[in-house]
Amino acid sequence: LRLALRETLAVRHGKLRQSIGKANVDAFVVTHLPNLFYLTNFSGTAGIAVVTGQRLYLIVDFRYTSAVSELQASAHGCPDAEIVSVDRTYDETLAALLRKLKPGRLGVEGAHLSIGRAQQLAKTLNAIIENVYAPIAAAGDLMIVPCDGIVEGLRLKKDDHEIEMLRRGGLLLSAVALDVLQDARAGITEQELAAKIDWRIKSAGFERCSFETIVASGPNSALPHAHAGERVLGDGDLVVLDFGGVYGGYCVDLTRTVAVGKVDAEMRRVYGAVLEAQQAAIVAAKGGVRAGDIDAAARQTLARHNLAEAFGHSTGHGLGVEIHEAPRVGPKREATAERSAAEDDLIEPGMVFTIEPGAYIPGWGGVRIEDDVLVTGEGIELLTNVPRELNAN
Ligand code: GLY
Ligand code: MN
Ligand code: MN
Repeated sequence: LRLALRETLAVRHGKLRQSIGKANVDAFVVTHLPNLFYLTNFSGTAGIAVVTGQRLYLIVDFRYTSAVSELQASAHGCPDAEIVSVDRTYDETLAALLRKLKPGRLGVEGAHLSIGRAQQLAKTLNAIIENVYAPIAAAGDLMIVPCDGIVEGLRLKKDDHEIEMLRRGGLLLSAVALDVLQDARAGITEQELAAKIDWRIKSAGFERCSFETIVASGPNSALPHAHAGERVLGDGDLVVLDFGGVYGGYCVDLTRTVAVGKVDAEMRRVYGAVLEAQQAAIVAAKGGVRAGDIDAAARQTLARHNLAEAFGHSTGHGLGVEIHEAPRVGPKREATAERSAAEDDLIEPGMVFTIEPGAYIPGWGGVRIEDDVLVTGEGIELLTNVPRELNAN
């Protein structure tokens, strides 16, 4: 099955409770849906969890109550959970629950709770938002504490279940890619080709596409995140094909660049440079290095080919329940008050990310080659495996 077992969720909760303790809060509210899925296996379009030392209260509305009961009765149910049905609105139900639980310090996901919602919650509970909002009137006993990256921090290193899903996703996406590479031929429009790719992704058994499929042909391939449009693929085009699927809730992501018709010397030169940059980054990727070192390996290779200016995005990004998550595999960052620069982007076993350098030349076209890797104790394991030659169709 594609969901984590109850025992796996229990391990995640144990780690979460440690992080909550470190953040010095008594209860923690999870409003970011990918985090909610990670903690509960619940994947509705709305829901809130309140995690305390002993319990996880899962607030869901009528649309999901029977699905959640079924989930709870299975081996994939959320441990120590109490299901709370929404009465009127989510936030009123949350407030009512918090009045009952009476946490002194309540953690919320600062990055995912709007100011409006937080203020409304504070008003309803007669609370203060730490460092943000202090009403003149005397507040009650509750302090709302914006916390950052608590669940995201746990998601950084994948557990065995997640690795299994990402491995299966990578294999499946690689099989899809073999067919996709054949579909990129003269006469088809970008949109038609994108629709075909989406069909292949879903037919292969993915739950959905992990982002909007990119088909960028000819001059459009110089735009890293072009939308597939009405342009017809023709002779002499480079075509960037970037697509991915979600398997068991986990996102995989792959890019190949193909040529339609003739391949000229400049196409080979740029393609060869990007391929070399990707190889250099793959070789540099292992536990103990910094993400910035992996990025530098790709960037320096492209610079040697006079393509430094043509590579304007990061070398890669983490994959998991979100298509773009930590770690960011980009140029080294300065230290912040909270974290040293080295801590900020330390690569460790269990991390999964993309390696996707590219070169984009306005008016001419572009090349990107993207694969997904898992950092192991020894080095890395490639999760995607598809030929990387610039073949002409
Ligand atoms: N398609 C989005 C990415 O590769 O990051
Ligand atoms: Mn990507
Ligand atoms: Mn991609």
